[in-house]
Amino acid sequence: MEIAGFSHIGVIGAGQMGNGIAQVCATAGLKVTLVDINPEYLEKAKAQIAKSLDKLTSKAVITAAAAKAASDNLTYSSAIDSTSSCGLVVEAIVEKEAIKAELFKHLDQLLAADAIIATNTSSIPITRLGASTKRPDRFIGMHFMNPVPLMKLVEIIPGMATAAATTARIVTLAEAVGKTVVTSKDYPGFIVNRVLMPMINEAFRALHEGVANPEDIDNGMKLGCNQPMGPLTLADFIGLDTCLSILTVMYEGLGDTRYAPSPLLKQYVEAGYLGVKSKRGVYQY
Ligand code: CAA
Ligand code: NAD
Repeated sequence: MEIAGFSHIGVIGAGQMGNGIAQVCATAGLKVTLVDINPEYLEKAKAQIAKSLDKLTSKAVITAAAAKAASDNLTYSSAIDSTSSCGLVVEAIVEKEAIKAELFKHLDQLLAADAIIATNTSSIPITRLGASTKRPDRFIGMHFMNPVPLMKLVEIIPGMATAAATTARIVTLAEAVGKTVVTSKDYPGFIVNRVLMPMINEAFRALHEGVANPEDIDNGMKLGCNQPMGPLTLADFIGLDTCLSILTVMYEGLGDTRYAPSPLLKQYVEAGYLGVKSKRGVYQY
């Protein structure tokens, strides 16, 4: 199948976001190659996708035939070069600018001249990341939400040099995989994290200052404001390292101390307590 001129795409980074992005694109009918430098993560991604497809089938969100077709559309690889024939590569590796820029330089040399590179970055400026390639017109932010198979939103962030035709194709793709699009200017934190991360940061500050214990902070927001997860549970779910990286980008990019990451959040990350993915964050899993 072809969607917006794409038939085979690459997704790089098979962590919690990459596996979800690969799954929804494969379910929509695209051939997807999911790449991670760590083979252990590829195995985990394969198991997570199978579990998610089973769950969606058992709830009749998709048919058993669609789940089988999605699995058949997926291939797994630990070599970036296996995406060389892809018309689109969506990057979903760690939220570290230098590591992402190095990958984009590699992809820029590897991919066909007309291929598009999209980044799932939560906060790093798209214009700056695009400038690490010779194709900033075919470079864009395509920000999925966690967990990708369930969350309806994709934030689209064109950089200063992104061509209108690139944006149009990526919007078409996001809608074809069943998502609703919001478009943000290329400004630190974009829309969702600009509003979400200060709340998470404030929850860490309240915890640090001894206002309440984690359970009461979370229940306060869950039961008092009808949020599906309290802010500390959500931070553990997102990854405390990712939250810290996003806040650091916002603090540096917006130059305002109100975004300065909570010292307690920093300490958790320094201790290696990264949340659900490391089995320990604010809570133990
Ligand atoms: N695929 C398929 N099914 C899934 C799934 C997945 N990936 N993840 C969870 N489910 C299923 C569960 O198996 C469960 O099924 P049953 O009802 O049959 O048991 C169902 O969804 C509900 O899950 P839970 O019972 O575990 O918990 P829940 O009712 O709290 O729902 C949730 C889970 C949808 C994640 C909900 O808690 C929620 O919406 N949380 C907030 C998520 C959120 O805010 N995400 C955005 C984060 S910000 C971001 O992503 C941007 C960034 O850059 C950081
Ligand atoms: P994660 O830590 O779960 O996974 C990152 C994966 O990238 C790991 O499997 C790692 O092995 C792999 N990786 C690292 N360097 C690589 C490289 N050079 N080549 C190939 N693979 C490499 O992270 P995540 O939570 O999935 O986040 C990925 C991206 O998505 C980040 O930019 C993050 O900000 C963004 N994001 C995260 C969330 C969230 O809730 N966690 C939501 C939206 C966007």
